[in-house]
Amino acid sequence: MKDFLSLVKSRRSVRQYRQEKIPRDQIEKIIEAGTWAPSAFNQQPIKFFVLEDSAKIKLAGEKIREMRKKAGENIWRQELPDPTFYQAPAVIFLCVSEPKNKYALADAALACQNCLLQAREMDLATVVVGQATMLEEIPEVKEKLGLPNNWEILLSFCLGKTDSFPEAPERKKPEVIFK
Ligand SMILES: Cc1cc2nc3c(=O)[nH]c(=O)nc-3n(C[C@H](O)[C@H](O)[C@H](O)COP(=O)(O)O)c2cc1C
Repeated sequence: MKDFLSLVKSRRSVRQYRQEKIPRDQIEKIIEAGTWAPSAFNQQPIKFFVLEDSAKIKLAGEKIREMRKKAGENIWRQELPDPTFYQAPAVIFLCVSEPKNKYALADAALACQNCLLQAREMDLATVVVGQATMLEEIPEVKEKLGLPNNWEILLSFCLGKTDSFPEAPERKKPEVIFK
């Protein structure tokens, strides 16, 4: 067991996954960590949609890239077969159902980081995929995925096993003011 700061520093965005399913109890433990994040007014509004169907993960990625191309955006990591969800065996969407309060995104981000760290502690790999929110613009695709239309996607992350965690990108020196 690593000390906490070492665990935090060892989490990396991973964009290459083994084609191996993650056992349900492990996913549940990761989500449990998410539920222990603080939330505004203790509303605990975050819902978790776990997508493991590879055809649906592929479809979601393709639709997002189509939209990004239409908008004239550059597709990062185009050389990869799935430069959106990186062929991960699971993608977890953090959602909220309406009405959402103004802190919902903060709630999702805090829950997400708990999940990422729990996954890392279990030697599993993750990457946050912010682009998943673009699915909000294509409700017919959300429906195909099985995601209720009143669940708004705030954030998502890929989850899987990897052969290697990449090198850490440099961190900027923190700008801090003490008074
Ligand atoms: C809100 C948010 C959205 C992100 N969206 C994406 C994304 O859509 N695709 C991707 O490959 N990485 C995404 N990332 C991962 C960042 O690129 C990554 O965290 C950053 O490069 C630092 O690398 P590290 O996570 O290994 O420390 C996202 C990260 C955050 C926090």
